[in-house]
Amino acid sequence: MIIAIDGPSGAGKSTLGRMIAREMGYLYIDTGSMYRAVALAALESNTSLNDAEAVAAVAESADIKLEGDPDSLRVSLNGRDISEEIRTEEVAHASSVVSAIPQVRRTLVERQRRMGAHGRVVLDGRDIGTVVFPNADVKFFLTAQPQERASRRYKEDRLRERDVTFEETLTDITARDERDSTREDSPLAIADNAVVIDSTDLSIEEVAERMITVIRERQANKETSTI
Ligand code: DC
Repeated sequence: MIIAIDGPSGAGKSTLGRMIAREMGYLYIDTGSMYRAVALAALESNTSLNDAEAVAAVAESADIKLEGDPDSLRVSLNGRDISEEIRTEEVAHASSVVSAIPQVRRTLVERQRRMGAHGRVVLDGRDIGTVVFPNADVKFFLTAQPQERASRRYKEDRLRERDVTFEETLTDITARDERDSTREDSPLAIADNAVVIDSTDLSIEEVAERMITVIRERQANKETSTI
């Protein structure tokens, strides 16, 4: 099966994607980390983020690898481990800008399709159920109120000893949502047949339980229909 998880920043996609992949024994693909890797490569090579052609060339030549178990996934760029570097606010902002460039998306979507082609995979992102795998077996759209998403992100940042205020986090998340949802190419949107889960008042465990229930049902239906 192919399991797609989409939703805005801070909705818990990666935590839940990892949990589901572990539970199912599937591969986990964090597609946002690929846009972040392109953003880092562009920043490091002093490529203007407004120069679509130049950023597209950076994406084309970037050797991005995702390796390891869902819980210890490492991201590398041209052989260098960049797992920590891509988590800064600067890279988050730049990734949202470069992900609006159609040629960058074409390059990464093609790679994501190849990575997931064999199935038994969980992918998280913004366009998995709408563009990358519109025929995914299960599609989730995870969301939560902006205040709640910012609060989760702020707690994570504090744990990582980042010097940010809650207001800055909320402003960043809101700006990123706006850009990701209003871009012309593959904006964040709820896919047809997606199961929408608003986790504002739910714990991670409660969301995971709901997701696993849906997945097991689909799995059972799939098995019955192929007998
Ligand atoms: O999920 P994330 O915060 O790591 O994603 C970083 C940026 O990449 C985010 O602003 C939106 C973009 N993105 C995208 O456009 N399509 C995806 N499939 C995944 C991420």
